[in-house]
Amino acid sequence: MAEKITLSVIKADVGGYVGHSSIHQNLLDVAKERLSKAKDSGMIVDFHVTRVGDDLELIMTHERGVDNEEIHQLAWNTFVAATEEAKRLKLYGAGQDLLSDAFSGNIKGMGPGVAEMEFVERKSEPVIVFMADKTSPGAWNLPLFKMFADPFNTAGLVIDPTMHEGFNFDVVDVYGHKAITLSCPEEMYDLLMFIGAMRRFMIRRVYRKDGEICAAASTQKLSLIAGRYIGKDDPVLIVRCQSGMPAVGEALEPFAFPHIVEGWMRGSHHGPLMPVPFYEANPSRFDGPPRVIAAGFQITNGHLIGPRDLFDDPSFDRARQLANEIGDYLRTHGPFEPHRLGLDDLEYTTMPQLMKKLEDRFRPE
Ligand code: F6R
Ligand code: MG
Ligand code: MG
Repeated sequence: MAEKITLSVIKADVGGYVGHSSIHQNLLDVAKERLSKAKDSGMIVDFHVTRVGDDLELIMTHERGVDNEEIHQLAWNTFVAATEEAKRLKLYGAGQDLLSDAFSGNIKGMGPGVAEMEFVERKSEPVIVFMADKTSPGAWNLPLFKMFADPFNTAGLVIDPTMHEGFNFDVVDVYGHKAITLSCPEEMYDLLMFIGAMRRFMIRRVYRKDGEICAAASTQKLSLIAGRYIGKDDPVLIVRCQSGMPAVGEALEPFAFPHIVEGWMRGSHHGPLMPVPFYEANPSRFDGPPRVIAAGFQITNGHLIGPRDLFDDPSFDRARQLANEIGDYLRTHGPFEPHRLGLDDLEYTTMPQLMKKLEDRFRPE
């Protein structure tokens, strides 16, 4: 049987530079040093360290499968080491996503975001790792739906016989702690009923009908883990491309539309998701707007050949321009909805405290 390779993308915000806008080079260097050692020792096959906004992103290949304790421990230790450097430099929010003092077997539920998949490498294996800042995991619902279920986005669904049967979507209810698999195109309307509510229902994985994994997303919500607002769950997503899966261009196409996501300023505002090249992944205006980068790799005998900066393309200029226009329009609302999130979402911020403080001053009506 052919060897299986695992692609693990694990991320955390362990300190921002300056404020929450970006990351200091030293943190990237610490992470590279750690993962280099792990590569030399044979624990991982290959790695790439990068960042989007204030999030440190560890992209690793190995042969240990998903949810592997050693790999999660390696990521945890790397974040802890980067946190030490962040503390030394007094960077902002040092260690903010590490919710526990000690590692306990699986990094999920401890703060960092995780997307992993295991597969047998194809004759050629193009993958895209999408990484976003100032938003939350529900942000992937719309683009994943378009990539794998919308024939107006993905021509292959119509004209490629190997995609014609459609795909299965594994959807998790992050509040109900349960999951469902829905099949497209047959159950498309059922799927949309759920995933349109992107705060609660999130597409976690997409499979081809023969069971082959095509996409995996992080679905960790920090506020649910900690029970209060403690930062954002800036998400990651892995998409395999070509030969019976969406073409690279079909996987990128949904981002030509900067859809509205939650997570701008203080995690409490809606804003457009702006696709940017790596060098523009520094959300500054009003701590945003939310943005996404796309790192393309060819996986070759487990090695990461790349990345290619896939949004570094003038054909996404219009999306960026539109995102700025939408940003202006939403910003004009100031503290009013729908720029500001609805009350339910603000539960994890200051609203409950304010309610409590003014409780006695409310008169019966
Ligand atoms: C963090 C974020 C920022 C912060 C804001 C306030 O990812 O989105 O908008 O929420 O800068 O940060 P604090 O409360 O740390 O001063
Ligand atoms: Mg931060
Ligand atoms: Mg962030």
